[in-house]
Amino acid sequence: MRITIFDSNEELDARAAALIASTVVERPAAVLGLATGSTPVGIYKALIRQASQTKLSFAGVTTYNLDEYVGLPPEHDQSYAYYMKQQLFDHIDIPLEQTHLPNGMATDLAAECVRYDRMLASQPIDLQLLGVGHNGHIGFNEPAEALVGGTHVTDLEPATIAANARFFEREELVPRQAITMGVASILKARQILLVARGADKAQIVKQALTGPISTACPASLLQTHAHVTVMLDKEAGKELMSDDSALHLVYS
Ligand code: GLP
Repeated sequence: MRITIFDSNEELDARAAALIASTVVERPAAVLGLATGSTPVGIYKALIRQASQTKLSFAGVTTYNLDEYVGLPPEHDQSYAYYMKQQLFDHIDIPLEQTHLPNGMATDLAAECVRYDRMLASQPIDLQLLGVGHNGHIGFNEPAEALVGGTHVTDLEPATIAANARFFEREELVPRQAITMGVASILKARQILLVARGADKAQIVKQALTGPISTACPASLLQTHAHVTVMLDKEAGKELMSDDSALHLVYS
């Protein structure tokens, strides 16, 4: 695991975007696993900029998003489908039919999960971008006694609903359920890029990267993956910097 702690968020964004871009340069038909939330916003902006400067084409790229709220249509401004169009897809040359998110409006949610898993099985992810929740969730895989491997419907934790309430007018409007890729699907990605920013993530980042590997902190399972790149701003990395464990920390 290579962990880089950045002095500035701009630099973090540029480096994370450069890693995504280089994946596409190396493999124009790359399969990218994408994430939502506030963490990737700057990365997508930097990626759009780099793509336009270098004339990088996403025409052959396929994307799979980690998750989607149950009950929000793609036109809803808080759906992840809407977010992805706004933040990235509308600004690069990727054909929309090559972009995939779970359909949170499916009448048969179980069948939708099977459909999503079949697609993922046929197109293994080259690079999966990940944020982390304050409770250690990845995608919407909440801490639990046992985690689900494949795509599934999950009940959101009160803490996750509260954390995401900032994007909605009122907390009651935050969906209570989501469809998420499971941890096994996430860990199948060839490479994982985990990004976290802000002092409020410092404790969970330390726990995930140096604590016990436990379903109580789903992000800790990333310790079992052979090719994880972690990019943190100095606030999110501050607990690691004071740690004398044998982590390979790079300061940038
Ligand atoms: C959300 C998403 C995750 C995201 C995480 C952190 O609920 N489902 O994919 O990584 O929580 O969000 P943020 O980046 O806004 O802190």
